[in-house]
Amino acid sequence: MNEIQEMSRADARSSAPVQARGLDATGWTAKRRDFLRILGYGAGSMALGPMLAACGDSNAQTTAETLRAQLVQDEAFWTEVQKMFILDPSKTYMNIGTAGSMPKVVLDLFAEENRKKAADSGNGYSNLLAQRQQVAPGFGVDADELAFSANTSSGMCHAILGLDWQRGDVVVTTNHEHGGGDTPLKIATDRYGIEVSRIAMPVGNNQTAATYVTLFDDRIKQLKAQGKRVRAMMWSSPTYKTGTMLPIADLMTVVKAHGLISIVDGAHLPGMMAYNYGELGMDFMSGAGHKWQCGPGSTGILVIRNKIRASNPLPLPKWYPIHTSTYPALERANSATATYDVAASVTSCGSVHTPMFLALVEACAQWDKIGRKKIETYDITMASYLKEKIVERWGVDSLYSPKDDPKLLSALTSFNPFQVKTDVMDATKSNTFVARMLSDYPQHFVVRNANFSVIGAPSDHYGVRVSTHVWHDANDIDLLVNAMWDLSRKM
Ligand SMILES: Cc1ncc(COP(=O)(O)O)c(C=O)c1O
Repeated sequence: MNEIQEMSRADARSSAPVQARGLDATGWTAKRRDFLRILGYGAGSMALGPMLAACGDSNAQTTAETLRAQLVQDEAFWTEVQKMFILDPSKTYMNIGTAGSMPKVVLDLFAEENRKKAADSGNGYSNLLAQRQQVAPGFGVDADELAFSANTSSGMCHAILGLDWQRGDVVVTTNHEHGGGDTPLKIATDRYGIEVSRIAMPVGNNQTAATYVTLFDDRIKQLKAQGKRVRAMMWSSPTYKTGTMLPIADLMTVVKAHGLISIVDGAHLPGMMAYNYGELGMDFMSGAGHKWQCGPGSTGILVIRNKIRASNPLPLPKWYPIHTSTYPALERANSATATYDVAASVTSCGSVHTPMFLALVEACAQWDKIGRKKIETYDITMASYLKEKIVERWGVDSLYSPKDDPKLLSALTSFNPFQVKTDVMDATKSNTFVARMLSDYPQHFVVRNANFSVIGAPSDHYGVRVSTHVWHDANDIDLLVNAMWDLSRKM
């Protein structure tokens, strides 16, 4: 066992902010002082500088230190936020991209509402207007534009399968989409005869927001030159595979230039990014309630453009509810005033489990209270810190997530952890890496991998993906990187 492994997570947590708290380390064991020195704390950190500089790019080192300082400066605040969760302290949960965790206050409200519902033999015939009114401002829209869905996949089905597709309509998307969006696209292909044109996604740091504008614009122009009728663009912001944030505002310029319908798979956006969807102006953004927003399972947020705003003057696409008890059968007018509450038609379908959505509303209220922008800044800064630490050890080419264009950043970080770079195409080896991060280290890191095609590669890469969220701190990143480095050398 190395010295990192010997440190328990509890030890690490309590010793992390030594300087910030002004703790006296004189009575500590040599092992613990060594550990702090490794993390760059205390007098020993001066001596560590040249050693780390020798490991790689000295600029990256400086950036990492700057980011770390930013993370710890508001430590007391984030410690209070961390206390909101009941996460098992024996593990370090870094797969929020798959599932978040409800804060205690949300769990309590959920339990209470379940009991009330049972006591009253209550029903759930509601479009939850009051609750949508409460949540919508946090997303920059009105209640008629914010629906509660069952999850991201459900929202993508509502969006895609509700459109009046014509045979031969083309949807331009990417080859890094999730099944949540790809499945309804496939149904629309088989049922309505649409065609899907996929852009091969770049990976790594050598890309910018302009890369995506060019990729989509060029593809649309090529298709049009072939006489194709391009009708829509669909993309993930960010992709679940590499965490690349496809830049919505930039891609909306392409959407508007070509007069297209815009569908964003935003599974990871609610609770991670503080976006104002009214200002972004996409037609649909389907997000999860149960991931970064930390609401219950089977909850999602679907934003639907339902009136003309300055952000998107294009006419509203013709769209029918496909899963509803509310069908006003009205044509939506292209004006600044909504014709009807389109979000009600998505939210209301028979009797819904109201406690679940009340719990989601509470999670949203907590996020609004903490500050959505504050959360976004913290999550992204942690991911940036992680990326810089990865660059120091593995080099910038190991990153699948971009790090330098701020528009492409998300709190999902994907990279190749293997010393023999081609090992990342070995699914078994990648699965073993993920399994051993959980089993072999005292912090029991929960991370995941995802496979994706890489331009020019003979087969899929199985990158390792890390989610950084409100219950983590810089210390968790340090421990994670040390463990991943240790494991990569053992494998
Ligand atoms: C990009 C993306 N889309 C859709 C989904 C499906 O999410 P949900 O379980 O909320 O339907 C996921 C889940 O990880 C995802 O990452």
